[in-house]
Amino acid sequence: MKEKINKYLEEINSFIAETPDQLEAFRIKYLSKKGIVTGLFAEMKDVAPELRREVGLLLNDVKNKAQDKVSSIKDNLAQKETSTDKSTDLTLPANFLNIGSRHPLSIVRNDIIEIFSRLGFTVEVGPEIEDDWHNFTALNFHEEHPARDMQDTFFIEKNPDIVLRTHTSSVQIRVMQNEQPPIRSIFPGRVFRNEAISARAHCIFHQIEGLYIDENVSFADLKQTLYYFATEFFGTDTKIRFRPSYFPFTEPSAEMDISCFICGGSGCKVCKHTGWVEILGCGMVDPNVLENCDIDSEKYTGFAFGMGIERVAMLKYQIDDIRLFFENDARFLKQFTSAT
Ligand code: DAH
Repeated sequence: MKEKINKYLEEINSFIAETPDQLEAFRIKYLSKKGIVTGLFAEMKDVAPELRREVGLLLNDVKNKAQDKVSSIKDNLAQKETSTDKSTDLTLPANFLNIGSRHPLSIVRNDIIEIFSRLGFTVEVGPEIEDDWHNFTALNFHEEHPARDMQDTFFIEKNPDIVLRTHTSSVQIRVMQNEQPPIRSIFPGRVFRNEAISARAHCIFHQIEGLYIDENVSFADLKQTLYYFATEFFGTDTKIRFRPSYFPFTEPSAEMDISCFICGGSGCKVCKHTGWVEILGCGMVDPNVLENCDIDSEKYTGFAFGMGIERVAMLKYQIDDIRLFFENDARFLKQFTSAT
């Protein structure tokens, strides 16, 4: 009897089950009503009385070991089942994370900043809520000057002296008030105009302004700087041309066109078959503006320029509706990627 019991004990100790079915078969074999354990207890009556105690202890051991085995294997199998759950199956393809992309306006702004920073331009910013003086008066827009109509301004009803800036040229004034030449900076930012929203116009958009003030700065410096920008941004074959224009704060003033980078100048839809696209306004800073900021206009000269970021981005990516920039439709936004 003892030998038989020891054999069962050995079998119980070495038992392993890989499936719940195997475990159930083991449980029935040892622990069910007609199982081995019950059978062994029934045989107790045939055991010599002096051995009963010892055999009884052994039988209890068999029963306990079998029960422990069943519960520990059961736990193991349950654990295995959760760990082979789909979420941790390492052979399954990974769930791809949706990585965001930069907004096209940020990409274009960063590219422009990067190009001008190579020429030593620093970046400065000014407030979006401006006073009339910084936005207009100091820039040589006189009180009743019709040029104020060029920009449909948002005024604050209670205080018409406060405006939402209509252009980033206001930052020129703030910088010139605070710094003495040489000044070589660009000012990116958001501007506001009371315009009806359409495919071509929006009441909120972005500009980058540039300002370079030093001794002996000439129109040739302006041309060379903007030529460098155009070829870096639009490609080495880009040509530039200047058309005379008018801005109150520059004299002379010009508008700069670049040869159409889509058709190379032969004429297409983007350049409306002219071969040229208008890109920015620029000019030599009017001496009055320098004086308004306490900069000696006898000693210093300078140039300024301003361009619309949406306009440049629309040309670069051939986007034909400005409203797309502000709708934040992920299908639109995820088409733009950039290292910057
Ligand atoms: N502020 C002008 C606008 O919003 C753009 C501009 C033109 C800026 C000529 C300049 C400049 O600095 O010199 O239309």
